[in-house]
Amino acid sequence: MRPDVAPFHHADTGTWSYVVADPVTLRAAIIDPVLDFDAKSGRISMDSAQRLVDDVRQRGLDVQWLLETHAHADHLSAAHWLQEQHFPDAPIAIGIGIREVQTTFRSIYNLGNDFPIDGSQFDHLFDDGETFLIGGITARVIAVPGHTSDSNAYLIGGALFTGDSLFMPDGGSARCDFPGGDAATLYRSIQRLYALPDATRVFVCHDYAPGGRAVDCETTIGAQKRDNIHVRDGVDQAAFVSLRETRDATLPMPALILPAVQVNIRAGALPEPEDNGMRYLKLPIDRL
Ligand SMILES: [Fe+2]
Repeated sequence: MRPDVAPFHHADTGTWSYVVADPVTLRAAIIDPVLDFDAKSGRISMDSAQRLVDDVRQRGLDVQWLLETHAHADHLSAAHWLQEQHFPDAPIAIGIGIREVQTTFRSIYNLGNDFPIDGSQFDHLFDDGETFLIGGITARVIAVPGHTSDSNAYLIGGALFTGDSLFMPDGGSARCDFPGGDAATLYRSIQRLYALPDATRVFVCHDYAPGGRAVDCETTIGAQKRDNIHVRDGVDQAAFVSLRETRDATLPMPALILPAVQVNIRAGALPEPEDNGMRYLKLPIDRL
């Protein structure tokens, strides 16, 4: 079964969100929805998430899942808002490795013992290899740790959503220097994806349009194995780790990592309001 895949590009962060639908039953999943956040003013908006809702409504889709490929460091997730305002029956799901991410970042943000690190902010935690249905289409979870310890890819009826394990072939791979990241682990995760058939459609979570080309989101496993600038046929683990770690050492932290992760480890829920009714984000000084 071939799902309909509608990509939505978030220009501010280079993120691709997807509405993935079974064309027969009209059941659907939303993957990696973005909540707009302006760090300069501290303002949020739902304009980007509303585009996903509009698409779902126009096509008469029934959203069954709100899927995160991982706790993102570059954008805040709109999953909580989508569930609360539009899709109350759709569970928010992420990889079981979120517990490790929550443990690390509870300490970084000093969230205290009231902040659960058992993943219970999410409705469902996926194990590697777990399967679930989107209408009549079977989806399979492939754990791809390395960029983060909770990273999942979702293979939905022959369409693979890689999260940040792989970018487009000319973009390579995602950094592995966040807390919990590891380049050798990512290499092994990518090899699992490369064991899929060459014709597998691949949809990436980010594209930064290298070289000034138009933004793009779809490629294939065959194209990645042939052309990926970081990890392709013939590149061994040691070579990848060396390249990845050398490059990571030059990268600044993402602009939104500190606001984003504290929201995303709560499944996209903002921190509770304080006694004046305002919500606040925390910025640890000299920690990252
Ligand atoms: Fe990421």
